[in-house]
Amino acid sequence: MKYFTTTSKASRRAVDCVIVGVYNRGKLGVGAADIDAASKGFIRKLLKSGDVSGEAGQVAVLNGVSGVKACRVVVVGLGKAGNLDASSFRKAVATATRAIAHTKARQILNCLTLEPVAGADPYYLARHTVESVSDVLYRFEQMKSGRKKAAMPLNTIGLAIAKRGDAAKATRGAEHGDGIAAGVSLAKDLGNLPANVCTPSYLARVAKKLASGNGKLSTRVLNEAEMKKLGMGSLLSVTAGAVEPAKLIVMQYKGAGSDQPVVLVGKGVTFDTGGISLKPGAGMDEMKFDMCGAASVIGTMAAVARMKLPINVNVVVGAVENMPSGTATRPGDIVKSMSGQTIEVLNTDAEGRLVLCDALTYSKRFKPAAVIDVATLTGACVVALGSHRCAIYSNNDDLQDEIFASGNSSQDVGWPMPMGEQYAQQLKSNFADMANIGGPGGGSVTAACFLGKFTDGMNWAHLDIAGVAWKSGTQKGATGRPVPMLSEFLLSRARLLP
Ligand code: BES
Ligand code: MN
Ligand code: ZN
Repeated sequence: MKYFTTTSKASRRAVDCVIVGVYNRGKLGVGAADIDAASKGFIRKLLKSGDVSGEAGQVAVLNGVSGVKACRVVVVGLGKAGNLDASSFRKAVATATRAIAHTKARQILNCLTLEPVAGADPYYLARHTVESVSDVLYRFEQMKSGRKKAAMPLNTIGLAIAKRGDAAKATRGAEHGDGIAAGVSLAKDLGNLPANVCTPSYLARVAKKLASGNGKLSTRVLNEAEMKKLGMGSLLSVTAGAVEPAKLIVMQYKGAGSDQPVVLVGKGVTFDTGGISLKPGAGMDEMKFDMCGAASVIGTMAAVARMKLPINVNVVVGAVENMPSGTATRPGDIVKSMSGQTIEVLNTDAEGRLVLCDALTYSKRFKPAAVIDVATLTGACVVALGSHRCAIYSNNDDLQDEIFASGNSSQDVGWPMPMGEQYAQQLKSNFADMANIGGPGGGSVTAACFLGKFTDGMNWAHLDIAGVAWKSGTQKGATGRPVPMLSEFLLSRARLLP
């Protein structure tokens, strides 16, 4: 994708498509007012006839508007005047993009960036535009046979700015948006691939390929024998029933010399059958998405590398398949983690934490400035927060606040959740140092408390993304979340945000 910024009026630029907006009660946005004036009142006429509406979600594509240099004018409804915020801005850009996705338009000029949007400046408006367009244009067709659909012709996004002085901010926003969109798209691809393709070895290959030819990025992959040597009995207990070999994927991006790195840890369960505590059959296919934590940290690393951030970031992915078999771990088995703590595996379906605890212990060697693990960890999190926000846990209130803020400004939102000794008590075991499940009630919280037993001495946060990582139903597919939230966090740490 190519980007440009322009101060020229909506009607004056010869592009394939300009996007303008109208509000409720016929109030024209900046771009729409200009188009209306240039076309002798055409927009107002269409508003009167009802063919154009200010209602949010409404859209009309107008061809060959007289007095306007662009081939197409897309008019989107922006809702009540004065109410536009980053979220409704992104929705409006998505609506406009969907309306022209089937056309042959190669360039779009987004004039919605001229509207007043609460809490967003030219940087964020450019970034949100690029991310939103990319989100809508994303297709996953690599597993379909037959004639491949022609690639989308759209290859240029223009960003209208009010004054020359905004050009640098908008350009940087577009660049960052481009990097984040690439990371989101990679995370979606990895999530959408079936488990017979996206195995632990496949994830390792993708991580290696990302690093090849990039002097700042390196990838190392540990095999099961090496993990055994490190004492990762917990992680290895999850792969005990699987034929696919487990991998520990370690990526290091050095953009800032010898600074302490931020370490991102991902749950990479490439398929979660539940193991001997087998899941019910209905909807089990969606457990191919149980590696979306891994996909998001690898995707974030791709974004970081593309944006060439001046910061150190490491990624640690525990990649395993959770399968039942004669060699699988049984309920009641006791395993020893790399930390030395023993775990009674009361339910083999609570496997994510068994993988993450050893990955977190491994992360200590990097003396992280902060470590954030990302996991589709519990169905209970979906009950608590639905599919709108991920859960944010931390042993450090400042870190929790920082991640919460990153979610808000990137429009990839989470919500702070509690931890504490009362919840941790639920993990007591009569036979080992702890059990891997916390009984009824607060399932997402007790899972976080389990991980908290492996993070002593580190600034640690945990994102339970079970509700946000993918969509079900007719829209079934990975979302690429929380790549935008994590990227925002790293951009902020790199002091590159306005
Ligand atoms: N991968 C699942 C969590 C999950 C379930 C995410 C459904 C999204 C949708 C995880 O490994 C799991 O099975 N968790 C169990 C834990 C329980 C056994 C304590 C769960 O949530 O049921
Ligand atoms: Mn499970
Ligand atoms: Zn799982």
